[in-house]
This record gives sequence, C-alpha cells and structure tokens, in this order.
Amino acid sequence: MERLRVILAGLGVRGRHWAEVLRRTSRCEVVAYVDPNPAARQRLNEQLGERPGFNTPEEALAAMPDVGGIVLANPPIGRKAQIEAAAERHIPMLVEKPLALSVAEAAEMVHIAERHQTPLMVGLNFRYLAVTKATRQLLADSTVGQPEFARFTYERYRDGNRPDLNKYPLQMDQPMLWEQSIHHFDLMRYVYGAEPVEVQSRTWNPSWSMYESDANVAALFTFSNGMTVNYQGTWQSGWSVPNFEWRTDCTNGVIVQKDQFGALHMATQPAAALTPIDLPPHELWITETQGLLDAFVNAVMDHKPLECSGRDHLQSLAMVEACAISSRESRTVSIDSIIPPLFS
Ligand SMILES: NC(=O)c1ccc[n+]([C@@H]2O[C@H](COP(=O)([O-])OP(=O)(O)OC[C@H]3O[C@@H](n4cnc5c(N)ncnc54)[C@H](O)[C@@H]3O)[C@@H](O)[C@H]2O)c1
Repeated sequence: MERLRVILAGLGVRGRHWAEVLRRTSRCEVVAYVDPNPAARQRLNEQLGERPGFNTPEEALAAMPDVGGIVLANPPIGRKAQIEAAAERHIPMLVEKPLALSVAEAAEMVHIAERHQTPLMVGLNFRYLAVTKATRQLLADSTVGQPEFARFTYERYRDGNRPDLNKYPLQMDQPMLWEQSIHHFDLMRYVYGAEPVEVQSRTWNPSWSMYESDANVAALFTFSNGMTVNYQGTWQSGWSVPNFEWRTDCTNGVIVQKDQFGALHMATQPAAALTPIDLPPHELWITETQGLLDAFVNAVMDHKPLECSGRDHLQSLAMVEACAISSRESRTVSIDSIIPPLFS
C-alpha cells in the first residue's frame, strides 16, 4: 500500500496527539520530526522511533523533497514563511487551529496556498466527534424541528501553568477567543450549516486571572438562517470543575450537549425529560483527530474534496476577531466587514 510520507512539526502537547494518531494510521508514515527544542525531538525518537530531526519546517522541507504532507502543530505565530515553503513545493498542509492570530494574516496564507494550488486544511478536530455528527443528523432529520436559538456555555478553570499545557496563551492577546472559542464558533457554523452575520460581544479578565489578556468572552451572534446564539466562555472559572452545555431550541424541541466530547440529549416539546442519544466509544483527543487525519489523507491521496479548508476557516476566525473589535469599540460588528474583499 502506498503511504503518505509526512513531516510532523511542533512536538508539544498537540504534536504528541498527532504523533500517536499518525503512528496508528496505516496510510501514513512520519519521516521527520521538527522542533527547535532538542528534548522534544528526543522524546519522539524514543517513543516512536528515530527519524531525521530539524529545527524549523523550512529546513525539513528543503532537506526532504520526497514528502507528501506536513502537519504543523507549532504555535500559531510566524507560520507564514512555513506555509510559503510548503506551498512552493506543493506539499499539502494540515495546520493546527487557529491558522493565524489575525484574519488578514490567515487570508494571506490561504492566498499563498491557493496560488500554488496546494491543499491547506485546518485542524478542526471537534467537527469529527461522534457527538457533532449526531447533532447534525438530528437537525437534518428535523427530529425536533428547525433550530431558532441556542445557548453555548463553556466554563473551565484552565491552569495555564500546568506542565502538560502550552504556555504561550498566558501572554498572548485574547487567549480564550483565539485558542478556545475558535473551536466553538467553528462548531456553530458547521452544525447549523449557516454563516454568521453579526455579533455583539464583551470580553474581560476576572480579578484572579493568570492570563495577561481576557479569559472571558460573552457574545451574541446572529446567523444567516436567522438563528441567535448566546455564547459564554471562560478559561478562568471560579470553580475547578468544568461545565459545558450547548442547548439548541428548535420549533419542536431541544438538543442538549452536556460534555464537549459527548453526552448528547434531545427532547420533543411536550416531553417531560431529556432522552440520551447513544454515541460510539471515544478515545479523548485521538478518535476525532483520527477522523481529521483520514479526511486529509482522503483529500491528498484519493482526491476527495478538502474539508476544513483554510478559506472556510476565515469565516470562523472572522467571528473571533469581530468579538475582539465589538468588545473594544462597544458596537455591533458585521462578520463580512472582517473578511478581506478577495475572500468575501
Ligand atoms: N485541535 C486541538 O484540539 C488542539 C489542542 C491543543 C493545541 N492545539 C493547537 O496546536 C498548536 C500547538 O499547541 P500546543 O498545545 O502543542 O503548544 P506547545 O507549546 O505545547 O507545543 C508547541 C511546540 O512547537 C514547538 N515550536 C515552536 N516554534 C516552532 C517552529 N518554528 N517549528 C516547529 N516547532 C516549533 C515548540 O518548541 C513546542 O515544542 C496551537 O496552534 C494550538 O492552538 C490544538
């Protein structure tokens, strides 16, 4: 069987999920490790077997012309030159979210990839959860009617100093929005099959926050299908026990997801209690990342349509940036106004 030869760049928390998923995928083979930290490369050599190591994706791409893909699981800072180096060589890219820390920079990257006709997929693994697919199915079947409004709550005390978590969000601007809410906003678009129109938002930082910039986000979105979604997210909840609830109110009932990886329920309008929906077993951070990788391999090797494209991602990034602007300027922000003309 022909295998996709892949460079794995960024060997931190997320890179290690990727290493495990790539190891289990018979259609892929990791051929190089990239990380400026020698200890990170050494850990992978010991865990998954020796591979050539490089400090930067650019060096790896120059040294290894015979590769079929690159996974970028490094922080979303300074990725433009890396994307340029891959696109010039027509190496398909699977890049972790958020693609960049501004819509303008992300749009430049998308432009570079498209100019070189090179696939650029973004790591939106939550789209590949069974709970996400089941919610889409419930809405497609019209089991509870048409969705009209929703409340999305994500409350977590994220100890940014924990050794098993990345550190750069402690100092970055709007960490909750760019690093976490991006997944939630993308899920809204994906599950409702609608595009965001405008948002009113306020972001702030609790007095006890360990993050330099805002860990709290409140936002009210309007979507193209008329839906209103009320969002509240925090990385600095006052309680160590996390809380997740995504409730969608429809013309004949509700859909309620009580855990970010599962716990799906529904009720028709007159029902006295929620009914749990059966979901297949799930291995945290692995099963859904496997789904994402399979979609990438299918696009690259079997020429299936590219999912989670960079171009599509611009809409979700625009929701993030619109929230930051809305909060800073105390006004409603149209999502279209954030997208560069070439992409709107
Ligand atoms: N999709 C998800 O569920 C998910 C989960 C966690 C993180 N992420 C994303 O993955 C990315 C990395 O996050 P993380 O938590 O692994 O961060 P991390 O800080 O734990 O690891 C980042 C690694 O990248 C390395 N690095 C820095 N510059 C590099 C470069 N130029 N080339 C190659 N490697 C470089 C660092 O040395 C470090 O080992 C971010 O975009 C983050 O948002 C996604």
